[in-house]
Amino acid sequence: MKFPREGRPREEVLEMLENITSIDLSFSSDRILGSMCTMPHPLAIEVFCRYIDRNLGDPGLHPGTRRIEKEVIEMLSDLLHLEKGYGHIVSGGTEANILAVRAFRNLSDSERPELILPKSAHFSFIKAGEMLGVKLIWAELNPDYTVDVRDVEAKISDNTIGIVGIAGTTGLGVVDDIPALSDLAREYGIPLHVDAAFGGFVIPFAKALGYDIPDFDFKLKGVESITIDPHKMGMAPIPAGGIVFRRKKYLKAISVLAPYLAGGKVWQATITGTRPGASVLAVWALIRHLGFEGYKEIVRRAMELSRWFAGEIKKMQNAWLVREPVLNIVSFKTKNLSRVERALKAKGWGISAHRGYIRIVFMPHVTKSMLEMFLKDLRGVL
Ligand SMILES: Cc1ncc(COP(=O)(O)O)c(C=O)c1O
Repeated sequence: MKFPREGRPREEVLEMLENITSIDLSFSSDRILGSMCTMPHPLAIEVFCRYIDRNLGDPGLHPGTRRIEKEVIEMLSDLLHLEKGYGHIVSGGTEANILAVRAFRNLSDSERPELILPKSAHFSFIKAGEMLGVKLIWAELNPDYTVDVRDVEAKISDNTIGIVGIAGTTGLGVVDDIPALSDLAREYGIPLHVDAAFGGFVIPFAKALGYDIPDFDFKLKGVESITIDPHKMGMAPIPAGGIVFRRKKYLKAISVLAPYLAGGKVWQATITGTRPGASVLAVWALIRHLGFEGYKEIVRRAMELSRWFAGEIKKMQNAWLVREPVLNIVSFKTKNLSRVERALKAKGWGISAHRGYIRIVFMPHVTKSMLEMFLKDLRGVL
């Protein structure tokens, strides 16, 4: 498409957009079952639109927004059992993970840095390894899909700059044995990063509801950084990932001087320069509005739906759970999986099966009636 010489009237442009995006699925279209994002909370949408011009890349211009980001990091730290944390709201879990690996690498003196991570880790670490010149050392998984801690230990070398544990794997929602990884990290004097991009806004509330899930946060002394994404179960608008470090030295190790800004010089730790203050304000508003009890209610509903759905899968002849759910994710296999996937997609379902199973994520927009429709279609297809 060519860059247009003349502009078109507003209404016409909006209509063109409406036509083209009419083929998109929306989180309000009752069809998306395989995404870790959701329809943002209405308050977050309102705040996001109201403060759309705030740029945290130049925080001197927006000191109120900068203060709000500090408060968000304080509240996330508190949720994760850390009295004072250091971090940012960033573009997503990918950037958060890259920042953690960058901090570990910058603080190590290894010339051939290596990062040990579970085979279940998110592909963002592949980007991190490639960009930062860090070799990824993949640790094996146990039969229950948690990382094999003995294999992690066997892979530690003089070049190990950090260990990664996952609190809510992308595929299955499994939580690694973070307490054991933390002990290992302390024993060898290596920092542990926990990728709780998904689980960070689930586990604290699920534990409060009585679900038996291992500790995963700064309560464990070996944990030096945590990724926790408000734009997943936090119900914030995209983009809103989160990174929290236990110590200031990590942020300092990745900060670069931004000398020319209108608001004055600042040290900048994020990958992005210009970045949306509106996201941060929306996260703050949501946390203040929902509080721990509000998020607990959202998680209670999601966990209950996931257990009910897993029970329905167990009743089927041609479908099997990959494992019992830990968080609000249920993954199952079927006979002729790729044909089943194609048939379900043809019926409009937003699911994927590329890992060898179908993954359903029980996000806040997922309702029981939606799941009943899906199960009906699944039974029909099978
Ligand atoms: C465990 C985990 N970490 C990191 C990410 C990356 O997050 P984002 O897509 O926000 O960059 C994801 C995304 O699904 C994830 O599941």
